[in-house]
Amino acid sequence: MRSLFNSLAVLTGLLTSVAVAVHPVEVQGQDLIDTVTNKRFMIVGVDYQPGGQAGYKPQEGSDPLTNKSVCLRDAIMLQKLGANTIRVYNVDPTLNHDDCASIFNSAGIYMIIDVNGPQSGESINRAEPWTSYHKDYLKRIFGVVENFMAYPNTLAFFSANEVMNDLDTGKVNPQYIRAVQRDLKSYIKEHANRTIPVGYSAADVREILQDTWAYMQCDNDGDGSESDIFGLNSYSWCGGKATFQSAGYDTLVDMFENSSVPVFFSEYGCNEVMPRVFDEVAALYSDKMASLSGGLVYEYSQEDSNYGIAVINDNGTVTLRSDYDALQKQFNKLDTSKIAATGTKIKAPKCDKKLITNDAFDTNFTIPAVCPGCQTLIKNGIDKPTNGKLVKVTQIASPNKIYGSAGGEVTGLSLKLLSNDGVNAPSGETSSPKGAASESSTSTSADGASGSSKPTGAASKLAGGWTLLGASLVAALTLL
Ligand SMILES: *[C@@H]1O[C@H](CO)[C@@H](O)[C@H](O)[C@H]1NC(C)=O
Ligand SMILES: *[C@@H]1O[C@H](CO)[C@@H](O)[C@H](O)[C@H]1NC(C)=O
Ligand SMILES: *[C@@H]1O[C@H](CO)[C@@H](O)[C@H](O)[C@H]1NC(C)=O
Ligand SMILES: *[C@@H]1O[C@H](CO)[C@@H](O)[C@H](O)[C@H]1NC(C)=O
Ligand SMILES: *[C@@H]1O[C@H](CO)[C@@H](O)[C@H](O)[C@H]1NC(C)=O
Repeated sequence: MRSLFNSLAVLTGLLTSVAVAVHPVEVQGQDLIDTVTNKRFMIVGVDYQPGGQAGYKPQEGSDPLTNKSVCLRDAIMLQKLGANTIRVYNVDPTLNHDDCASIFNSAGIYMIIDVNGPQSGESINRAEPWTSYHKDYLKRIFGVVENFMAYPNTLAFFSANEVMNDLDTGKVNPQYIRAVQRDLKSYIKEHANRTIPVGYSAADVREILQDTWAYMQCDNDGDGSESDIFGLNSYSWCGGKATFQSAGYDTLVDMFENSSVPVFFSEYGCNEVMPRVFDEVAALYSDKMASLSGGLVYEYSQEDSNYGIAVINDNGTVTLRSDYDALQKQFNKLDTSKIAATGTKIKAPKCDKKLITNDAFDTNFTIPAVCPGCQTLIKNGIDKPTNGKLVKVTQIASPNKIYGSAGGEVTGLSLKLLSNDGVNAPSGETSSPKGAASESSTSTSADGASGSSKPTGAASKLAGGWTLLGASLVAALTLL
């Protein structure tokens, strides 16, 4: 009896263990490296913002990482997809994210967290950055660091997203973003017990991309304001007919081959041709693109902008789109464990006007001084931070029904708790059942597209929906 009890206890212990934690990942030259195995870490990711920007509701005490049941449901499907990283755009640093962070950790999935928010005072105002760089703003972003720094699966922080999207916005903002990065890095150094990389997520506006990257990576007399990582939101590969050349991936390789820091796609997945087939996945993880560290597909949930790989239904169930099936198939073909580290350790060039190709872009490398009262804040830490910590993951069965792209229910869904500090990898499976459920009225077509996989709407076809989307997001951020 006693031994049975003990075995049960051990079994329960295994099922709900808190000991498992993904390995910390570190920047080494151009590579992201798993600090325990010493192998290269390639980001196989998906951007995660259920509800879109409106999913951030601090006034109601919720954001995309506060509802345990929602996180469990989605972590299961992201795990089956083969993802090892999510990016989350808007979090409230005063809320408790322990359950969600722990669920993703147990699933072997890392998190890249943007420190900003969409509301007033929660980001740099790109029209007048000097008005928004102050102590109250830093309190918010340091709060995000305090909140997420103890989770082993916090992979990196983004200091800003697409603040520069043309030459006008490229004139003065870069130095403010470097100021913010300097302060975030100082704060992490003072208060976190490991290094966590900080970087910028850039819009793929080719006119300013090279200059943005040059400005962000250069060494400014060792002031620590440079990006540790560089994310590129890249939507240039559209549909099954695109090629390495037509998508301009060759230009990207040229640009980033000699990067001193890891570069990856912080968003990708053009939706001008629907349903998406994600041929760019094979290219992104090929030898030709070895200087990039993978990327994150935009995005998990279907929102107005029509980029979702899954539809979150009003009743809490999820219906996979054929985009999910296509992406899963592409991920299944990858073996990222075989992708060798580039070993490239290039010293960043010294910051200098001559690195900047366009005179209209920022050439001023005098980074704004630390704002009034901010040095003390960095030294002493913010008041009453909400510090996250891993907790037990006690439930693993999917709390909601999940339907495949043809309407049939996906059965037997539960979170696979990874042992041995594992990182998630593609499993080779196909989640969407072939046939439609008998009781389902979801329309199905030959290619398995669900009723929601409509051809791209006019809005997202206009000028490449992403540019428009990016621009309006930034505009909204700026207005708020
Ligand atoms: C979590 O989300 C589910 C599904 O939307 C909802 O039913 C539930 O009330 C939420 N839980 C909390 C604690 O808000
Ligand atoms: C850092 O803190 C975390 C959470 O408190 C702990 O699990 C981990 O072992 C610490 N790491 C180091 C290197 O001290
Ligand atoms: C990268 O550096 C190597 C070695 O210095 C050089 O041969 C190559 O031309 C550089 N590539 C680019 C695109 O600048
Ligand atoms: C939930 O809503 C979806 C979409 O409207 C529907 O197909 C499904 O049958 C519903 N499931 C349950 C369990 O109510
Ligand atoms: C360069 O930026 C600094 C602040 O970051 C500012 O004080 C200085 O006036 C700028 N220089 C020029 C030439 O605009």
